[in-house]
Amino acid sequence: MQKLAIQGGTTLHGEVRISGAKNAALPIMCAGLLTADELHLDNMPDLHDVATMRKLLVQMGVTAAVEPGAVTLCGAQVDKLEAPYDMVKTMRAAILVLGPLVARFGEARVSLPGGCAIGSRPVDLHIKGLQAMGAEIHIEHGYIHAQVPHGKGAKRLKGARIFFDLVSVTGTENLMMAAALADGVTVLENAAREPEVVDLAHCLIAMGAKIEGAGSDTIVITGVEKLHGARHRIMPDRIESGTFLVAAAAAGGDITLTDARADILENVLEKLQEAGATIHTAGNTINLKMNKRPQAVNVRTSPYPAFPTDMQAQFMALNCIAAGSAMVVETIFENRFMHVQELRRLGAQIDVEGNTAVIKGILQLEGATIMATDLRASACLVIAGLVAQGETVIDRIYHLDRGYEHIEAKLSALGANIRRIT
Ligand code: UD1
Repeated sequence: MQKLAIQGGTTLHGEVRISGAKNAALPIMCAGLLTADELHLDNMPDLHDVATMRKLLVQMGVTAAVEPGAVTLCGAQVDKLEAPYDMVKTMRAAILVLGPLVARFGEARVSLPGGCAIGSRPVDLHIKGLQAMGAEIHIEHGYIHAQVPHGKGAKRLKGARIFFDLVSVTGTENLMMAAALADGVTVLENAAREPEVVDLAHCLIAMGAKIEGAGSDTIVITGVEKLHGARHRIMPDRIESGTFLVAAAAAGGDITLTDARADILENVLEKLQEAGATIHTAGNTINLKMNKRPQAVNVRTSPYPAFPTDMQAQFMALNCIAAGSAMVVETIFENRFMHVQELRRLGAQIDVEGNTAVIKGILQLEGATIMATDLRASACLVIAGLVAQGETVIDRIYHLDRGYEHIEAKLSALGANIRRIT
């Protein structure tokens, strides 16, 4: 199993290019199921989750022509309407094939994702939404079996008004894709406003979909009979951007992100300024300078545009060595503090009560062997390793490879002393 070894204590300097967003690439690849034409995607990140999604689509009969940083998908020959358990269990986002399959073929069998490290994460909202659009859904042998009953005409979903009890990112994306080919108008209320939802909407619109309101909490989709091929460039990854910025704020230094977007990172940038960093944005670059010990900053996660849960763990690492005490409240996932145990092994002083962690900043963490438990927790441990005294070895970094493109190469280029051990 691969590990990362980090010699802490170096500051970070230089430029780093931000990759395409994992959480935009995954749903947009699934949009390839909605048409028999070619969907060409640029700025594709080279990630394990992207490879897993490609494998799943290929199993279904999609062709995928891969070039560096791009892929062309073609769904003309889709003949297997199923996402098996071994795929869904490694990548929950595989649930995103459900909406497109039911919308275009009138049927799908998708494994239930089951529990995952950061909580139970059910998919009831995806299912309820499709039922409201006329799909008959049975849960059998751990699979969601969805079918559109035979009517007089083609097996098409019907437009519906759907209210989300909870804001769900992939739930909104699944139903938006399903509605794009449904018969009639669908209104999604209390929809997710995440920029990745907007990126998917842009791609669907380029494919001929009629969508209004993406980026607000009400999305109106007027179904069309057919979608066509398109070209789309995946948006920059705001979580990768935020992770590098927090790393530099914690370790100190002067870094510039290129191919990034500041307008979708406002909350994170404000928190970094509160921690004492100086930030300048221009065009698609974000520069951060930090030449002192960070100040502790409180964070409370909430759906976009509030502070993202996917940045919670990284700010926890920063707070471990900050001046003062901070409170971190996680309101989205019930079990997203697994990094706390590992940070304590480095000497961090953290108390957890329910969904609240109180971190008392100390001057110095000490390197140790620690274990990555999920994707963003891994990023937090890398940041902790960068600021700890001596060597930190992070085990189980396959979590990191799911969502961060070439992270050790990018950090090395910024001056970090980090290497992969196999
Ligand atoms: C997406 C992101 C993930 C991010 C999360 C929250 C992708 C591929 N993943 O995950 O990185 O951390 O948004 O910003 O985009 N819920 C239900 N029933 C449902 C669906 C969700 O109860 O049917 C609950 C979840 O358990 C969770 C909350 O709603 O407590 C939000 O989850 P959701 O937005 O759906 O997360 P994902 O889309 O899985």
